[in-house]
Formats: sequence, structure tokens, C-alpha cells
Amino acid sequence: MDIPGIGVWICDCAGLISDRVDTTLLAEKAQTLENVSLVKRVDILCHSRGLEQLKEELVSSRTVNRILLVGCSPRTSLKFPEERITDIMRSVDLSSDFFEVANVREQAAWLSESRDEATRCALDLMLMAHARLEGVQAGTKQVKIAQKSLVIGAGPAGLQAAKDLAALNQKVTLVERGSYLGGKMCQLPFLFQCEGWPAYCTSLCVGPVHAKDVILNPNVTVNTRAEVSNIVKKEGNFLTTIKKSPRFVNEDTCISCGKCAEICPESCFSVYNTGLFKRKAIDKDFERAVPDCYTIVDQACTRCGDCLEVCPTGAIDIEAEPQTETDTFGAVFLATGLDQYDLKDNPEYNAAAFSDVVSSIQFERILENGLKRPSDGKIPESVVFVQCAGSRASKEKKGTGVPYCSKTCCSITVKQAERLAMANQLVEITIIYYRDIRAYERALENFYRNVRDMGIDFVNGEVLAITGDEDGAMRVKVEAVISEDDELAGEITAEEATILDLEADLIVLAHAQIPERSSAQILKQLGVTCDQFGFPLENQPRIFRPGESFIDRVYVIGSSSGPKVVQHAVEQGGAVVTKALPTLLAGTKGTSKYHSVINVETCSLCRICETICPHGAITITATEAVSDPAFCQACGLCQSACPVHAARLVNLNDKQILDQARVAFSNLASGEPKLLALLCYWCSYAGADLSGVKGFKIPLNFRSIRLRCSSSVSTGLVMALFKTGVDGILIAGCPHKSCHHRWGNYLVDKRIALLKNLFRQLGLSEKRIRFEYIGVPQSELFVKTIESMTTSLRQLGPNPMVSFDRETENLAAM
Ligand code: FES
Repeated sequence: MDIPGIGVWICDCAGLISDRVDTTLLAEKAQTLENVSLVKRVDILCHSRGLEQLKEELVSSRTVNRILLVGCSPRTSLKFPEERITDIMRSVDLSSDFFEVANVREQAAWLSESRDEATRCALDLMLMAHARLEGVQAGTKQVKIAQKSLVIGAGPAGLQAAKDLAALNQKVTLVERGSYLGGKMCQLPFLFQCEGWPAYCTSLCVGPVHAKDVILNPNVTVNTRAEVSNIVKKEGNFLTTIKKSPRFVNEDTCISCGKCAEICPESCFSVYNTGLFKRKAIDKDFERAVPDCYTIVDQACTRCGDCLEVCPTGAIDIEAEPQTETDTFGAVFLATGLDQYDLKDNPEYNAAAFSDVVSSIQFERILENGLKRPSDGKIPESVVFVQCAGSRASKEKKGTGVPYCSKTCCSITVKQAERLAMANQLVEITIIYYRDIRAYERALENFYRNVRDMGIDFVNGEVLAITGDEDGAMRVKVEAVISEDDELAGEITAEEATILDLEADLIVLAHAQIPERSSAQILKQLGVTCDQFGFPLENQPRIFRPGESFIDRVYVIGSSSGPKVVQHAVEQGGAVVTKALPTLLAGTKGTSKYHSVINVETCSLCRICETICPHGAITITATEAVSDPAFCQACGLCQSACPVHAARLVNLNDKQILDQARVAFSNLASGEPKLLALLCYWCSYAGADLSGVKGFKIPLNFRSIRLRCSSSVSTGLVMALFKTGVDGILIAGCPHKSCHHRWGNYLVDKRIALLKNLFRQLGLSEKRIRFEYIGVPQSELFVKTIESMTTSLRQLGPNPMVSFDRETENLAAM
């Protein structure tokens, strides 16, 4: 950047500002500010004419290369034309990084009855914006992004994402651990459609058709029997290593004639059939599996070579070796699916002791292969379904598990019970459910009621034990809840004991659904933040960013972010593609004006920044810490956590905040307490704005500084700010669970609590410092906080701390 030339545009907002603030005085003062070469008053800037005028003035000035706009709030004004102004700057070859705003409407003009007070505040806000602009450095740059996507997992969500990306002419690499595409969906012969009854769909029709669309698309590279063994983020991209296990049969040349399987003398348990049924060592998982190709199970094959003899196309290679390849991607779609909760710590189910205690997915395969129980192949006369096996764990519920509802199990069980009842009218069916049947979706409640009317026993209760009697039959001891409704339904009468003893030839447990275990490594390598159960968290606010993880361009789709029915997984897989598309199409990504950098000279490689970064932007190698601006989302957590001040948020570092604080109270009436409000831009700053919008009037002795996240405030910065002479500091962040950087608000809350201890030890009043969670609609809380802090500060008198100590000087030197 050449010599700074600041152009100041002061908007009267057609009287909304100028009626309450002396904008003529603002313009006069602006003329005196350093590096200001142009000052313009505008009646109303956001109208087309105002913007055209701004462009004309910008072009004709020749000296202006930075814009300071004095006007309304960039955060909450519904007409604030930030995009249009930055577009204008770029159109005349100016960097849009050099644009700052003094919000004198919402946070000055509209907050005071006094024109004098509002004008003083507005003057200070202009000085602060000027200080920001003086310290700005060019931060944005274009990073090259690979125009290829990686989809991990070929279940319904992964397939849909791959298909939709490919349809938009995007290159996709699909990595699937199993031998076929479609995932667990292909193990379910019946598929829910949430608007209606379950229909025959998946393993014979929808799954293979969906999979065929993907595998035959020239834009998609499909890797089955493959896994991502390593993934590293570098310069905005994902460097990936894919390990491929051999199929031993060439997908291209295999014609699926089946001669190899006919002659194969070896057999093993079929993974597709959940280990309940056998297959040949060379076989297909199921008739319609895609790729349409046979597979050898390595551990079961004796390499006898019989299959080689009969294969008409020479497609078999029993000596094939694993392969590894690397590639670089610009977006990652995690469609890794679910696992079932391990009930080994739930003795009440005694699942390991009986081969006729099966899971829901096993029961799907039993139904499909002919209703026979696994132990002896007999047709069961009584089947007991047990709901919430490991789900909804609580103090009240027996056994261990996860506290959440696995969401899909009730409907799956109702579907299975209906199918069982229709196929075999003599079988006695009992469903033991915990407290309630949760039939989500508008048609499923009706479906459940119909199934209930088929004469299937629904028992509200909990399993106490599963045991075997002398005849080898299983018994299920249930603590049942007798309700009026049960009696009316004639299922259990009130006279019967609440402890039921049911006989069962087959027991089906609806296991809790948990994140797919093997994906934990990939999530860790990507730095994806997960909840306490291991499900990747979607970025805040979810309402704007569904399907996006906390890592830029890493999307969590389908059941990888929580249990879902197939229909919803497909919907999400398709929808998320639109999020990735703009960057993939452009092949570049502009980094933010705000991003963190790490000073390698001072960094001690302690790894705190790497651990604390919610966006996985920081990588520590043996020799250096690197923050990748293409992944950084500019929260500033690293800046405030770094013990040696090596991490710094470009364009919002401690020095730049101190520079603003130093001028923040230049025009405050003498004797008034100086209250500095450090407000998170997303919530609290907007809450403060809305105080003005709603017409609240408050003491205008506060001045606010917009932060990217409240967490960027360190204790060192707070102390340094006090040394500048402020009397009190309010730090406000997003409400609970709403921080856009996952845990930033909690971190700063704790930090300020610790600082208050220090204050007490130093004999300072802890009333001088406060942290509040203030959301957008909580302007009343903002007003009350400012009022109460002002009252306290008036009582306490001026800040006793001396200006500038060594720490301040150190910070200033950064
Ligand atoms: Fe608001 Fe973190 S983004 S406190």
C-alpha cells in the first residue's frame, strides 16, 4: 500500500443520524485526523445514488485508498451496503481490507436523548474507527483450491452427494470401506418413506440403482474396500492417502456369471448378512451389489485356484496386493454412518449368552433369508422386541448406555413387527418399549397405530433379565408399567403382576446408535470438533450452516452427524453440495481480512493453540506452528491462549484493540466513568445495536469494540486496557451453546472469573470487570448491564491503576 489516504464519508441517514448527532462537527473533526485526504457528507449513502456518488468521488479523489464510513451498524442495519461498498473498492483497484465503519447510528444517535452526549460518543466512535483503519494491513489473499471432492462413505448420503456433485461436473473420489455401494441401506429390504407406509425398496431396487448412477458417472472415481489412512490440511486443501485392499477380481472384466462361486470349495460368514449366514470365499455380497463384481474374502480363500480355471474372462487375480494412492481435495464430505452400541456392560440383556438374541439389523437379514432362529434353524413361535437397548440412559432407566434417543429404532421395530405378523400369523409378537413409542414423521404415528391394532402386544416396561429355562427356551423378565391405556387396550390387566415373565424363541434388541467407530481417526486428523458422544458437531449457527462442520469445507452428512432415516440422509447429502459448490467452481478461496498468524521466533511449540483452535487451522510440526489462513475463521482463541504472545489475529490484535481504547473516551464529559465494552460481533454487538433500534436510552459513557469472538480477550489484554485508563470493562459473548467458535464464550467466562480473583488479591474491585452472555434479542440485558456497571463505576471512582506497565509496552511493540 502506498501512502495512506483516508476518505471519510459521513452519512446523515436522511436525518436519522443528523437530527441527533452534529454531523457537521463530525466532518470538521474528520478533516483534522491523520492521513485523511477527503471528507464527504452524504444525505443517504445506502441508496443507489449515494453509492454512485461514493464511487465517483473515490475515482476523482486520486488520493483516497482507504474508506472510513461514519453511519449505521454493519452488523444489524438491514440496509448497510457492505458488499456493495467493497465491490466498488475492488472495481477501482482498491483492497476492500481498507474499509472501516463507525457505527454512530445504533450505538450513539439512537441511544441518547442528549444531542451533545450522542455527538461526543459519535466523535469517539469515529476516532476508534480511524485508529482501526490506521492499523489495518492487507490480509486477504486468494488460495488455490483443488476442484475435486472426497466423499468418505458410500451410504445413502455419500452416494447422493457424489451423484449431485458429479451432475454439476465436479470431480469426486468416493471411498467406501465395504465391498459394495449403498452401505447399511442395502441390508434393509424395506425402506421408510416418511410420507407413507414402508415400501419394498432398497436392496433390490433403490440401492443398486442409486449406486449404478454413481459408479457409471465418469466424474466419479469409486474406491470400494478402501479407507482414508491419512488426511492432512495444507494451504487450504486436504492431502489424502487412500489405502485400497484388493478385491482379487477385476471390476472391469468380471461378468458376474457366478461360476467361480459355484466351484469354490470354501465358505465363510457373510458380513453383509451380519455374520448369520454363510457365503463362498469368492462370492457377491448380494445379488444386486454394485460394483457388479465378485469378491474374494482373503482370510477364507486357500488359494486353491479352482476359480481361476472356470472364470471365462480371466478376471481373477488371487495374488493381488493392497495399493496406496495420494490425492489432494478441496472439499471433504464425511458420510461415515453409524455403529451400534455395545451392550457388553448391560447384563440385563445377557446378549452374548444366547445366539437367539439378535440386533435389529440382524433381524432384517433373518426376515430376508427366511424366518428361522440362528441357534437351531427353527421357526420362532414367539418374538420379543426390546426397544431402547442402550438408548435414553438415565438414573431412572436400568442399565448403561447413551442418554439420547436413537430416533429411528421405534419405527424400524414397528416396521419389522408388521412384516413379521403379515408373514407368519401364528407367531406371538411382543414389543417392550421404554415409556413411549417415538414414531417420528407425519405418517409413522398412524402406521404405528395400525400395527398396534394388528394384535401385537406393546408393553411399556424395562427388561430386568434374559435367562434360559431347562428346555433351552429363553425367558424375558420385564418390569411393566400398567397404565389405564394398557387396560383399555386389553393388553395387560391391572390384576396381573407388574413383573412379567415372557417366553421368547427370538429376541430382537434395538441397539442404541453411536458414531461409526473407525471414523474417529479421520475426524481427529481433520481436527473436526465432536460432541461428547463422538458425533461431529455442525457449525454454529446451525440454522445458517447445516451440514457444515467447524472445519471449512468439511461437511458432515447422513447419519455421521446423528441417527437418521434413509430419506433424510439422502436429502442432506444432496443439500450440502450447494455449500461446497461456490469454492469448488471458483477453484480459489479468498482468505479473510482477519486471520491468525504465529510468530515462529517466539513460538515455544507448546501446542496450546493447536488444541484450542475449534477450526483445525493450526498445525504444529517438529519445528514450527503454522496457522492456515484458508481454514482460520478468525475467532482469536489462539491469540488469547498463547502464553508467549506468538499467536496474533491479523487486523484485530491486542495492539489494535489498545489503539482503539486509547482514543475511545477522548470526548467523554469529564468526571464520567469510562466503560469499555468488548462485544462479540455475532451476538452481543447486535444486542447492543438493537438497544438503539428499540429506542432504549442509556448513559453514553460506554464505547464498544467489535470482536470476532469474545474469546479473543486475554487476561493480559484486560490488564493492558485498564492501564490505558478505562474505569471498567464489559466483555460480552454469545449466549450459552451459541458461540460461533464452539467454546469461546465459556473460555473467556472462566478467564474473567480467574481475573476477578486476581483483582481481589490486588485490592481492586471486581465490579470493574464483567462477563455477560448477551444474545441478539437480549438488548434489555445489555442496557441493564451498562446501567448497573455505570452506577458501580460512579461509586468506585477512577481506575487506580497507573498507565502503561511493561506488559503494555510489550503488547504495544507487537
Ligand atoms: Fe460470539 Fe464466540 S462468537 S462469543
